[in-house]
Amino acid sequence: MAGIKAHRSALEKSLEAALESREKRWIRRRLPDPNISSSNSPLVDFSSNDYLSLSNSPTLRTHFLQRLSAAPDVLGSGGSRLLVNGRAHAALEARLADFFKSETALLFNSGFDANVGFFSCIPQPGDVVVYDEYIHASVHDGIRASRARDAQFAFSHNSVLDLRRVLMRLKEERKGLAMGENSLFLAVESLYSMDGTFAPLAEIVDLLDEVFPAKNGYLVVDEAHSTGIYGPQGRGRVAMLGLEDRVLARLHTFGKALAATGAVLLTNTLVRDYLLNYARSLIYTTSLSYANIIAGDCSFDMLTNGTAQHLSKRLLDLSAYFTDTLRPLLESRWIPPSLVSLPSHLSQVSHQDPSPIIPIMTPHPRPLSAYLLALGMNARPITWPTVPKGKDRVRVCLHAGNTKEDMDRLIDGILAWAEETVQDGTKAVLTTRTLRSNSLVLAGIVESKL
Ligand SMILES: Cc1ncc(COP(=O)(O)O)c(C=O)c1O
Repeated sequence: MAGIKAHRSALEKSLEAALESREKRWIRRRLPDPNISSSNSPLVDFSSNDYLSLSNSPTLRTHFLQRLSAAPDVLGSGGSRLLVNGRAHAALEARLADFFKSETALLFNSGFDANVGFFSCIPQPGDVVVYDEYIHASVHDGIRASRARDAQFAFSHNSVLDLRRVLMRLKEERKGLAMGENSLFLAVESLYSMDGTFAPLAEIVDLLDEVFPAKNGYLVVDEAHSTGIYGPQGRGRVAMLGLEDRVLARLHTFGKALAATGAVLLTNTLVRDYLLNYARSLIYTTSLSYANIIAGDCSFDMLTNGTAQHLSKRLLDLSAYFTDTLRPLLESRWIPPSLVSLPSHLSQVSHQDPSPIIPIMTPHPRPLSAYLLALGMNARPITWPTVPKGKDRVRVCLHAGNTKEDMDRLIDGILAWAEETVQDGTKAVLTTRTLRSNSLVLAGIVESKL
């Protein structure tokens, strides 16, 4: 709104007050500077979810362009899946059902739409939804719109003990659950996007079977961040553990490691048919364009031909190198853990199962991120409400295209910032102020959950 208006409407006042309140609390979201986030930025990317660096792959690009030019349909898709010819969509679904060893597959325009679609309609009256406290916003939105909105319960992140407590209590309190007349849905992510932690899927399915022997406890696994990286040919962590037959639904998204757009929900025929009838985020929207379908299909070619597995190995080797190098250096330099630390799951000896997401815990994520930015590295600060209060961090996201030299530069940058901050206790605050006045706040924008 240009110029100063004499009269502010009630709506304007209310919207402005909310934004100002966020500004004061340092949690106002802004779009990143396009110069920083573009793919030809000279900055080293420690931020995007392009884990396998496929968005820069000349092979994938050439393959995609060839397929596009040969395809009968490229532009648009003409309408909702329920209205128009979806032959290309159906072919991709058939391919993915086969690839992921699932009874059926159903495409959604995004992972967000898939979670909203599933959780808003599948739970029936009397059913219950339990979720990990770090579950993605889209699951919350789905549950809120569902018939289980008043029967939703969180358990402590990745705690099988707390999950057991929640499940036992619900079974005790709700006769329908104990008798197998109602269902319980359990929502987890196989790899958590802000923490880089893995859900203990094998223990979770065993627990569900133990507490609900009538098989009315259903696991739903969001594999948005593990798609392409884990499991045989990048089929995800459910496949890695051979649990395909023990989950009700799996979500794989195309927008992260696959450098495409869209998502697929893998489930059984009955659930798929129900979603086609009741999932509003599928019914009332234009389906993925043909070009999107071709892009997704080409990315899956990178999985089936072994390219992804090769890139994933490189990515996870880099991740192990990064944490195993940083950890002892943080300790040996007497940097207070209250200033910079690795999270507890990474603070022990070399981990066997690395993740490309590494949170650098610090109460000053914006100054650290700005410091790294000045050194040519883009790693984003993440604060409340995206993560719990007191768990601010710089989220380092590694990519197959990163090099060991990149890792060393990043480690040097983190250590240099920490040492300077220890020497000059006010530095963190000063850096933040300087940033603000230079309108470089772009480096310190709170991210929406990625
Ligand atoms: C865990 C998780 N689930 C779902 C989504 C949504 O996926 P999409 O980006 O395809 O909408 C995201 C991404 O933001 C995510 O991190």
